[in-house]
Amino acid sequence: MVSRTIPVEAFDLVIFGGTGDLARRKILPSLFHRFCAGQMPEGARIIGAARTEQDAATYREFIGAALHEFADAQGVKKADYDTFLAQIDYVHVDALGTEGWDELAGKLGRGVIQAFYFSVGPSLFEALAERMHKYGLAGELTRIVVEKPFGHDLASAKALNKALSLHFDESQIYRIDHYLGKETVQNLMAVRFGNMLFEPLWNSQYIDHIQITVAETVGVGGRGEYYDRAGAMRDMVQNHLMQLLCLIAMEPPAKFEPDSVRDEKLKVIRALEPVAPEEMVRGQYAGGEGLASYAEDAGNAKSRTESFIAMKAHISNWRWAGTPFYLRTGKRLKNRASEIAVVFKDTPHSIFGDEAGRHRNILTIRLQPNEGIELGVTIKEPGPGGMRLIDVPLDMSFADALGSDNIDVADAYERLIMDVIRGNQTLFMRDDEVEAAWAWTDPIIEGWQERGDRPLPYDSGSAGPTDALMLMHQDGRRWREIRK
Ligand code: BG6
Repeated sequence: MVSRTIPVEAFDLVIFGGTGDLARRKILPSLFHRFCAGQMPEGARIIGAARTEQDAATYREFIGAALHEFADAQGVKKADYDTFLAQIDYVHVDALGTEGWDELAGKLGRGVIQAFYFSVGPSLFEALAERMHKYGLAGELTRIVVEKPFGHDLASAKALNKALSLHFDESQIYRIDHYLGKETVQNLMAVRFGNMLFEPLWNSQYIDHIQITVAETVGVGGRGEYYDRAGAMRDMVQNHLMQLLCLIAMEPPAKFEPDSVRDEKLKVIRALEPVAPEEMVRGQYAGGEGLASYAEDAGNAKSRTESFIAMKAHISNWRWAGTPFYLRTGKRLKNRASEIAVVFKDTPHSIFGDEAGRHRNILTIRLQPNEGIELGVTIKEPGPGGMRLIDVPLDMSFADALGSDNIDVADAYERLIMDVIRGNQTLFMRDDEVEAAWAWTDPIIEGWQERGDRPLPYDSGSAGPTDALMLMHQDGRRWREIRK
């Protein structure tokens, strides 16, 4: 694999929650991939910090096992594992007490970037920030990385932002939304702002509607307790789908720089109109064929939490007035497929007559799987017998176009962690952005609660409740097939 890597400076990365699931599945395998790509300088150190009392050797074994399970280790030699693991250390730290903090402070290098990954629940954020200061772990070279959920609603997000701001400057806080690290999500910006072709048409005059689908096949599995308090709206829409919507809808930023990009995204969120009850459909997966129902997975027989949501959103600004954005996400759906489809309007007049048929141009940005961009164009059906129009894809699958050997398909976390080390906040959410997203989300959720809405059951392996199809049908539109 050809890897285009930009060297980074030596760093210390402390992972609070270093024994947790995210550390095992994502953070450490991502760092290992970057190490294999030659991007981890020799002096870089990773320090796991958690409640478990164990020594560094035991932690290394634990991480070694995680790498074998979760890292793509094709062509990796045993010596590489050993060298990587040798850069890992461990400290037993009590986030709410005094234990381990002096030891951790003693392990940090001087004059190097120090990143602290808060891979713990938000209830510990403030305690960690406070202790980092008290024990002299925070300085000018410090950056903290915080995971979602960033709050549960506007009030809690504000409280978290305030608590962190007592100890850190906004320029030191990296709020992760891993969707922003996905290759195609960034490509979306390259396509919009690197080509002359699309931007002149990118408005309600030419675009009929936009569909954003993030479909998953998995259920809530072992995360039932968290998920039942969150639901698809808080877990996916408030952050991931909202970020996709922002990148699709924002005005061109003056520069690809953190505040230029984040200012434009913020304007989109603030221009979102409230969503009326009849403009959304909530669903909850039912069990069957050996699969547990949502209620069973969540351990809450009376749960009213949604594992699926579809909605029609409107952006009230000059560019988008009149172009709806249909958002849809759910678990246990028929396929794992995430895409954004930009559906252009009909041509104003067909010179070929009704028999020829009419097709709309659709620009599809596929996030996963098979990342790529496809533009549906109308051509003449080959052969004699008059003019019949058909739709063919101008397909730009990255793997085909670039050759799979030439793309470094870095995981979202790899890119984002390296951005933290490089000090680039472009792909991270700013405090006001997160708060604006909650300000739009809260009234929607409160509305359900006040009305006592129950989610509609849907079969596992389906496309969600049939009412979601109606949401489009009543506007004379159709959801795109959720295909692999
Ligand atoms: C997480 C959500 O943020 O994103 C999960 O909490 C969801 O519920 C996951 O499954 C989806 O991420 P990806 O990268 O697999 O699409």
